[in-house]
Amino acid sequence: MSWGIIGGTGLTELAGLELLGQDWPDTPFGKPSAPLVHGRMGEQEVIFLARHGKPHCIPPHRINYRANLWALKAAGAQRIVAVNAVGGIHPALGTGVFCVPDQIIDYTWGRASSFFEDDLEHVVHVDFSWPYDAELSQRLVGILQQHKLPHHPGGVYAATQGPRLETAAEIARMERDGADLVGMTGMPEAALARELELPYACLALVVNPAAGKSDELITMAAIEAVITQGMSQVKEVLVALIDR
Ligand code: HPA
Repeated sequence: MSWGIIGGTGLTELAGLELLGQDWPDTPFGKPSAPLVHGRMGEQEVIFLARHGKPHCIPPHRINYRANLWALKAAGAQRIVAVNAVGGIHPALGTGVFCVPDQIIDYTWGRASSFFEDDLEHVVHVDFSWPYDAELSQRLVGILQQHKLPHHPGGVYAATQGPRLETAAEIARMERDGADLVGMTGMPEAALARELELPYACLALVVNPAAGKSDELITMAAIEAVITQGMSQVKEVLVALIDR
């Protein structure tokens, strides 16, 4: 039973992993963002992938999401936990708060977002009413509760194109749409996992108030400071999830 972990900004490696090896496989869609890191946590096998590459240099709209998901599945991952740094829209989602979203609105465009495109015998539409795996998400929320980490269960993830941040008006529109948090990498990743029938959950860490939600400009320096602190908590959650 292998776990696939997709690390986002700030999580390019997973401390606490007993390393077994690395490989950088080819897939029908090209190479994943970085080598797959194979390891063990307790009894469990883990395959870790740095979404933005290692070093962190692939912007959200250029990530080869199809190769990433395909490579994890082909390597034996049976479920995926995705870690995402996000902006907070909902008032409860202040900086440093975790969220395990249960819905998505996709504002991205032009990304290769399906495995079912070419050489089809018939058209495929997968059900995506509930984009995240409920059981895996519930386990993440349970661990956030037990570890007394600030968190908000559930929420609507707005996936934006990036790499620029949003305007205040765009965030206000997303809020009217019902979005609670905003990030650039949640889609098409979640949809591709569903197409491959991989249970998928998201552990999001709010690293800044979304545009227009604070008087401060959003700077990479401020975001990085939050990420550095938050990622040790992310690792704590992942260890508790996997090693249980
Ligand atoms: N918007 C989009 N993506 C993000 C943000 C944001 O404010 N913060 C971190 N990722």
